[in-house]
Amino acid sequence: MTNVKKAKMVIDKDFTISQIDERIYGSFIEHLGRAVYGGIYEPNHPLADEQGFRQDVIELVQELNVPIIRYPGGNMVSAYNWEDGVGPKEARPRRLELAWRTIETNEIGTNEFVSWAKAVNAEVMMAVNLGTRGIDDARNFIEYCNHPSGTYWSDLRQKHGFKEPHKIKTWCLGNEMDGPWQIGHKTAEEYGRLAVETAKAMRLVDPTIELVACGSSNTAMPTFPQWEATTLEHTYDAVDYISLHQYYGNRDNDTANYLAHSLDMEHFIKTIISTCDYIQAKKRSKKKINLSFDEWNVWYHSNESDQKIEPWSIAPPQLEDVYNFEDALLVGTMLLTFLRHADRVKMACMAQLVNVIAPIMTENNGRAWKQTIFYPYAHVSTFGRGVSLQPVVSSPCYDTKDYTDVPYLDSAVVYNEEAKEVTIFAVNRHLEDDLDLTVDVRSFENYRIVEHIVLEHDNMKAVNTAEHEEVKPQHNGQSLLQDGVITARIRKASWNVIRLAMQQ
Ligand code: AHR
Repeated sequence: MTNVKKAKMVIDKDFTISQIDERIYGSFIEHLGRAVYGGIYEPNHPLADEQGFRQDVIELVQELNVPIIRYPGGNMVSAYNWEDGVGPKEARPRRLELAWRTIETNEIGTNEFVSWAKAVNAEVMMAVNLGTRGIDDARNFIEYCNHPSGTYWSDLRQKHGFKEPHKIKTWCLGNEMDGPWQIGHKTAEEYGRLAVETAKAMRLVDPTIELVACGSSNTAMPTFPQWEATTLEHTYDAVDYISLHQYYGNRDNDTANYLAHSLDMEHFIKTIISTCDYIQAKKRSKKKINLSFDEWNVWYHSNESDQKIEPWSIAPPQLEDVYNFEDALLVGTMLLTFLRHADRVKMACMAQLVNVIAPIMTENNGRAWKQTIFYPYAHVSTFGRGVSLQPVVSSPCYDTKDYTDVPYLDSAVVYNEEAKEVTIFAVNRHLEDDLDLTVDVRSFENYRIVEHIVLEHDNMKAVNTAEHEEVKPQHNGQSLLQDGVITARIRKASWNVIRLAMQQ
C-alpha cells in the first residue's frame, strides 16, 4: 500500500526571482560519435533534405524548443582547425580527431551548422580553440563569421556562398581548460592570460559579442573553485559569463542518493556566484558576471562500452547512454535548479542533443526516437518561459550517503504574465510514498487548472527504445483548485507539470 506524506507551497506573483533567460534551455552538438554524422546529418537517409539534414531529427529538436546550441565542442574544439570545415567539401581534409580518437571528415563545418541551427530556430554558441591555438585563429574565425565583407576572411565566407555575416553573438573561450585530459590544458594563470587577450582581439573585430570564460569541469576538480577566482582575476572586465559543467551517474545503484544530486548542482551554482561576486568586490566593479551552465546531464551508462570502441573510425557510437526513468527524474530536478537560480544562470546547455548523451536518438538509416529525459526537458522548455517565482515550500526531508535534509518535494514555479499562465513543476523524490501537496495560489485570482501532466513508472530502470516508448507522460494527474488553494497528489517517484491559466 502507498503511504502519503504532506507538503505545502505558497506562491505569489510578487515573489519573483527573475525573468527567465530562455537560453537556459540550450543544448550542445559536438563533433563526437554520431551527434553530427548519423545524427543531425545523414545524406542517404530517406528523410534527409537537400543539404543532408534529417528532417525527423529537426522536428524533434523543434519539439524541444531549443533556443541556443553550443558547437563544435567540447573536448574536440581544443585541437580543431575551423578552416578545415569551410569551403568546397571535396577539398576538405580528413583529420585525426584527437580528443575522441576518431576520423573527422569535415563534411560538416561552421556554415553547414549555422544553416542547420536556423532550421531548428536556434542561435549558435560558438567555441574557439584555446588548446592548440589562440588569439590569431580566434580573430580570423570571428572575422570570417561576423564581419560583413571587404576583408580577406569575410570575403572568403562570401566566396563560400554566405553573403550575409552569421552574426554569432555568443562565443566560448575554449573548453574545460582546467582538465588534464584537454589538449593544450593550462593552469588558471596561463588560461586567464590567454582568454583575456583573445577576448580583447575578438571584441575589436566585433564589439557586439558576448563571451564565456571556462570555469571548472566539475566540482571534483582539485582546482575548483580557485580556478574560477584566478580566471576571473584576469578576465573579469573582458567576459560576460563563466561556464559550469557537471554530469552525474548512479554507479552504486543508490536511487535515493542519486535523485539528490541536484543538491550538489545547487551548491556548485552558489559557490560560483560567490566566487564571481568576490572578484567583483575585489575589483570594485559594477559589473556582474553571470553563469553559463553549458554542459550538464547524466553520463555513465556508456562508459564501459566506450572502452571497446576501436580508434580511428568514422562516427562510432560513442557516449550513447540509454536513459532510464530515474535519469528523467534527476534531469527534471537539474532543470528546476536552473529555474530557481534564474537571476544568475542565464544560459545552460543539456549535453548533448542527438545520440551522444542525448534526449534524441537515431538509428542509422532508421527512426529517430525520444529518450526518457526528452520529456522533462521539453516540458520545462515549453512551459518554463516567463518569470521564475520563489515558492515558499515546506516538505519532509531525508538523508542519504552524500546528502542531508534532501526535500522529497523538489519544485519551481514559472509565471507567464503575457499568456496569463502559471506552471508548477514538481518532483517527488520519495520512492514509496505519495505527497499530498497544497499550494496557496493567493494572488492568482480567476485561474483554473488546465492540465496536470505526470511522468511516472513502477520500474526506475525502464527505458525507451526505437520501437517502443515505455516511459512517456500522461495527462492523468490529480489536482483541484478551490478557494485559492490547489490540492494535488504528487505520486511517488514522479515528475509533474501542473498548468494554470486565467479563466476566459
Ligand atoms: O559532452 C562530452 C564531453 O564532456 C565534452 O566534450 C567535454 O567538454 C566534457 O568533458
